[in-house]
Amino acid sequence: MREQWTRSGFLLAGIGSAAGLGNIWRFSYVAGENGGAAFLIIYLLAVIFIGLPLVIAELAIGSKGRDDAVATLRHEAPTGHWYIAGGLSVVGAFFILGFYSVIAGWALKYFIGAADGSLWAPQQLNAYSAYFEGFIAKPFEPLGWQLLMITLTTAVVAGGIRNGIEAVNRLLMPLLCLIVIGLAAYSLSLDGAEKGLDFLFSPDWSAFTRPSVYIAAIGQAFFSLGIGMAIFLTYGSYLDPKQSITKSASIIVLGDTLLAITAGLAIFPAVFAFGIDPAQGPELAFITLPGLFSQMPGGRLLGTLFFGLLAGAALTSMFSILEVPSAYLARRLSCSRRKATLLAAGLSFIAGIPPALGFGVFEQMTIGGQNLLDSYDDAISHVLLPTGGILIALFTGWGWGKSRALEAAGLSNSQLGSFWFFSLKYIGPVVVLTIFIAA
Ligand code: PHE
Repeated sequence: MREQWTRSGFLLAGIGSAAGLGNIWRFSYVAGENGGAAFLIIYLLAVIFIGLPLVIAELAIGSKGRDDAVATLRHEAPTGHWYIAGGLSVVGAFFILGFYSVIAGWALKYFIGAADGSLWAPQQLNAYSAYFEGFIAKPFEPLGWQLLMITLTTAVVAGGIRNGIEAVNRLLMPLLCLIVIGLAAYSLSLDGAEKGLDFLFSPDWSAFTRPSVYIAAIGQAFFSLGIGMAIFLTYGSYLDPKQSITKSASIIVLGDTLLAITAGLAIFPAVFAFGIDPAQGPELAFITLPGLFSQMPGGRLLGTLFFGLLAGAALTSMFSILEVPSAYLARRLSCSRRKATLLAAGLSFIAGIPPALGFGVFEQMTIGGQNLLDSYDDAISHVLLPTGGILIALFTGWGWGKSRALEAAGLSNSQLGSFWFFSLKYIGPVVVLTIFIAA
């Protein structure tokens, strides 16, 4: 018998999967680089009209197929080659997890350093770029932290759906929510916090004319929800068949979005209160914020909480990324979950070596002028996830058939169902393709 989530356990694991580095580290720096509020509006539209329909589609396909991504797409569409989209997800997961674990490893290092005091040695607002750059240029240390995060992930995923992934999410998710709310409340109480609110919520209308803002926002919607890589398809294969798919998807999407906005409320008011330019790029969380914490009253505790939040949120996302290839390998090689998880984790670690060493050993290697880590990010957010998302949308709209899709999603005979189906069949693929080709 295939394992099954409990109802609340699935929702927690689903939000845990969606909410991660994407909501805190990536959301804040991409919003910072793309003008804040205008970006936020386009991002929200992309989440509602492209993201939510895709999460529903992945859950519907997964709960109907009740198998790994490749097998499910093969059974559900015996004609055509849709299973290739499943294969893309399995291979993609190695690269995503490899890349993701590098930054998750940085977060873990900072968390431990904040707790044991070593992170606070520089003591100055501007001293953290040397600290960070010194760390990421080392030949082995980043790899060690990355391996530690992958090992933790493997231990939990090997424990299974209910006793592993669900149990840890049940513990971590409420804690992470409390931390992010507490940090936002503190940040909002600082003098000068309003400028951060302005930045996030009052749009600079000229930003809407810049195509790069649309690409950034749609890429962020895919990354933050984690769609297009069969993650929800795989988690959905363990869903209780009586649990509502549209309700679950809505709760997960809402939870992910609220977490991103709350993280923005924790970061931007503080950034503006200290008079710092928000467009710092990927270093925002690792250079700017530790500098800020080192200057705040109670900053050591706040910093420890922040990096604990970052590492914990990353971990609950890593479970779901690893589950995709693990489920596939366990079936394909007819081996135990333990063995499959170990193998998938090992391959992911290898895929993550180039970006982990991209600032030291492989510093000279660049792709289109970008370091290896940024190249991985670009390829994942702007190529891999949108391509996977378009394939899932096309499969649902064209390969699966309307009545089967509506029935699987629990949306038969409803207006909402027709809109959902139409948006997957036409709107999503056309909008995403147009924007990315135009770019
Ligand atoms: N959605 C998660 C995050 O925002 C993790 C993830 C990213 C999953 C990209 C898949 C792809 O951090």
